[in-house]
This record gives sequence, structure tokens and C-alpha cells, in this order.
Amino acid sequence: MEGINWDIREVQEISSTNEALYTLINDNKDLNEGIGIRSAYQTMGKGQIGKYWHSKANKNLLLSFLLQPSISISQQFAISQMISLSLVDLLTSLDIEEVRIKWPNDIYVGDLKIAGLLIQNLISGKQIKESIIGIGLNVNQVKFPGDIPNPTSLSLVLGRTFEIAQIQELLLDKINEFYAQLFDLRIKQLNKLYHFLLYRRGVLSKFKREQEKFEGTITGVDPLGHLLIETDLGIEKFNFRDIQFVI
Ligand code: BTN
Repeated sequence: MEGINWDIREVQEISSTNEALYTLINDNKDLNEGIGIRSAYQTMGKGQIGKYWHSKANKNLLLSFLLQPSISISQQFAISQMISLSLVDLLTSLDIEEVRIKWPNDIYVGDLKIAGLLIQNLISGKQIKESIIGIGLNVNQVKFPGDIPNPTSLSLVLGRTFEIAQIQELLLDKINEFYAQLFDLRIKQLNKLYHFLLYRRGVLSKFKREQEKFEGTITGVDPLGHLLIETDLGIEKFNFRDIQFVI
């Protein structure tokens, strides 16, 4: 497979790069994959489950781009897996240690969050027709508001500043590499690597569902993206809305 033809437009300020790309796709039916938007600042950055994504202006990578993977909806979690693995590979290549994928959408360094993903899939029949990949990677920000849970950044971890455009370029190269694996049907290999890098896998940990705290051990993630935890009741399956990690 040829690499993706990246066409990332840069703006200074936007509500949300995911939102803007979604509108662009709706207004233009024949966009190619690789088109994307990077913004220096978002006024309404979107996080998971309706949360706000905080990022100081000009400090971090705020990027959304379009993929057209044409894979079956039953394999949609593989998209999130390959983007997570690309981010881990990028961070590891910068000599960061203890980089893990915290299910379902976060990248952690130790117990601190350095990046989050927001993936919106547009489905046609039984196929993923278009996938909007949103990535927020903390790069040069060193101070975060107190209500952001356990944040970190490249600067905090490595003690220097980075050129955001260069980090983006390195990341897009990694995504090219991992995306090719989806088409080589190396999804099983991606899945193996994903499990190897899964935060808290095999370690007795604390979780919370509704008001109840409980302990269990993550055994893996199933192909549909449910988290599997071994508890006193056996192996239980969780949707991401139904469980929180206690860190
Ligand atoms: C999360 O961890 O909750 C997901 C955060 C995703 C944030 C990125 S920043 C670029 C893109 N545009 C958005 O509005 N959100 C994603």
C-alpha cells in the first residue's frame, strides 16, 4: 500500500478540529483520506463522553484527520488500536519509558496521561466508510488546571521543548506504518502488540462502576473493544461508559 497522502491544514483557532472536519466531510462528499486540520487552539475541544479537552494555545498537538479504512464494523476497534500503537511508538522513539495504552482512548506515561484520542466512525452498511481521528497530544504545556486529572506532556517528561509541526510529522509517519498493517491483515499482530502495551494488564487494580468500587485484573480487550476484567464473579465485560479506573 502507498502511504497516506497527508494534507493537513493549519489554523490558529477553531471550535474543535474533529467538529470542523466532520462539517467539511458533510459538505464535500469526495474528500480523500489524509485530509486533516491542526489548530493551535480549540475553543470547544472535545474529549470523551462529552468532556471538554483542555489545551493551552500554541502548546500542544491538536489534530484531526480523515481515514477511509473500509473495514468491517466488527473490526472497528482495530482503528483505535493502530492509532494508539502509533502514538506509543512515537513516544518510545523519543526515549520515553513506561508508555502504555490506557483502554480505551488514552496514552499514559507511568500513571500520567499524555494523550487522548477521539475517533468518530461514519458507517455505511456493515463497513466503516470514514473515520475521523482526533488526537490531543500534550507537547510543551507544563502547567495544567487543577481539575485535569493526572496530566503530563513531552516537556514535563523530557525537560525540553519541541517543535509541534515536527512531532506531527513523526506521528504521521508512524500512522502510515501502522495503518498499512490493517490492510496486510496483520490485525492479529496489532492486537498482540496492543495487549502487550495495555496499561495495568495482569495487575490487580481498583475500578469503579456506578457507585461501587471493586478490584480486579484486566485480562484484555475483546475485538469489539470491551474491557475484560477478572473479578470475584469471573471475567466481566465492560463498555467504556460503565467503568472508571481508580488511579
Ligand atoms: C479524551 O481523552 O477525552 C480524548 C481527547 C481528544 C482531544 C482531541 S484534540 C484534537 C481533536 N479535536 C477535538 O475536539 N478533540 C480531539
